[in-house]
Amino acid sequence: MSAMQKLMGWIDDRLPLTATYKAHLSEYYAPKNFNFWYFFGSLALLVLVIQIVTGIFLTMNYKPDAELAFLSVEYIMRDVEWGWLIRYIHSTGASMFFVVVYLHMFRGLMYGSYRKPRELIWIFGVLIYLMLMAEAFLGYLLPWGQMSYWGAQVIVNLFAAVPIIGEDLSIWIRGDYVISDATLNRFFAFHVIALPLVLIALVVVHLVALHEVGSNNPDGVEIKKKKDPKTGIPLDGIPFHPYYTVKDIVGVVVFLMVFSAILFFAPEMGGYFLEAANFVPADPLKTPEHIAPLWYFTPFYAILRAVPPLFGSQFPGVVAMGLSIVLLFFLPWLDRGKVKSIRYRGPIYKVFLAAFIISFIGLGYLGLLPSTPVATIFAQVFSVIYFLFFLLMPWYTSIDKTKPEPERVTG
Ligand code: HEM
Repeated sequence: MSAMQKLMGWIDDRLPLTATYKAHLSEYYAPKNFNFWYFFGSLALLVLVIQIVTGIFLTMNYKPDAELAFLSVEYIMRDVEWGWLIRYIHSTGASMFFVVVYLHMFRGLMYGSYRKPRELIWIFGVLIYLMLMAEAFLGYLLPWGQMSYWGAQVIVNLFAAVPIIGEDLSIWIRGDYVISDATLNRFFAFHVIALPLVLIALVVVHLVALHEVGSNNPDGVEIKKKKDPKTGIPLDGIPFHPYYTVKDIVGVVVFLMVFSAILFFAPEMGGYFLEAANFVPADPLKTPEHIAPLWYFTPFYAILRAVPPLFGSQFPGVVAMGLSIVLLFFLPWLDRGKVKSIRYRGPIYKVFLAAFIISFIGLGYLGLLPSTPVATIFAQVFSVIYFLFFLLMPWYTSIDKTKPEPERVTG
């Protein structure tokens, strides 16, 4: 026995290292027909690591103090060695996180990956998405620019629209009557430690649940139903390592090329990844002309603005916005289709899904613009379509004419 084998034996007697490696990598059988859309889970993991590592280095020079925060970011950009790179990786990474997660969620919709037995993977996914939104919102206050300040002001003020407790609730969140140093300090604490811990824990549970039931695939066929009688290995499964570890490297390389192109040539991405107004220090006495959140929040912002106030209160809009996200949790039970994958769905589902995606993108676009009467009407139409996709789902998925699902995956 070699020294290496002896060492492994010694460790395995005390820690299930080889057993874990086999169960989750070399003898974890994933469907052999993963396509392009299956890159985004591993890419989300990569971006999570990038954000944590760059975040740690930013924290070394950032000052969570209303007097110093803006200047400390300028100091990072101009004086700290490689500080500009670390900061731009982190700011680009935030937007790329949402790009990757939106594509990852869209894959789930297309292939019915939220359906039985993967409901918990999906629910933990939606919780991750919520955490990610909170994390991005908190982080955006930290540079203490005009948009940081006024964006936070607008969002925290939404809590004030809650009947009875609203006013107290918003003061409790801010720790003051307006966004101030106290708010900056608590947002910093949540952004750098509390939420990242929750996020990591949720991702772990997301993956544990995934490995319990196994991945879905573009055909929506359960590979565990057809196993080799001798070995018990799914006939359409291949070991995750080396096949998918190697395949994922392709995704990582292409992703990093796109990421670097943005990072080095257009880190502000024309104002979509970093807004121009955020290069101006926060001024509590001067409201910017047009306050818009970053692109990944704009679909929900558009829903918020589409709902007319009731007796001067924005509460109905806030409820609609909350509901638009909460509905995602119920997807596994709203979908009554006989098949999971879009490949075998009927035309009605495809039309609803297409209308939903167009509405979501349309809302995202409208959320970037100042509201005008025409834009509001469009936002209202898109919002109605957005909600109907969910609310009518039990009906249209059950009447849709589906194609028969194949016995085995189709390659
Ligand atoms: C930090 C964010 C996230 C990370 C790191 C992550 C990671 C992963 C990984 C590594 C996989 C397996 C590989 C793959 O299927 O692509 C996966 C699968 C899955 N994820 Fe996520 N995920 C994240 C967010 C989400 C969100 C926001 C949702 C939905 C709301 C979601 C829903 C799913 C579903 C349904 C599957 C199973 C897909 C299938 O088997 O077809 N995930 N996730």
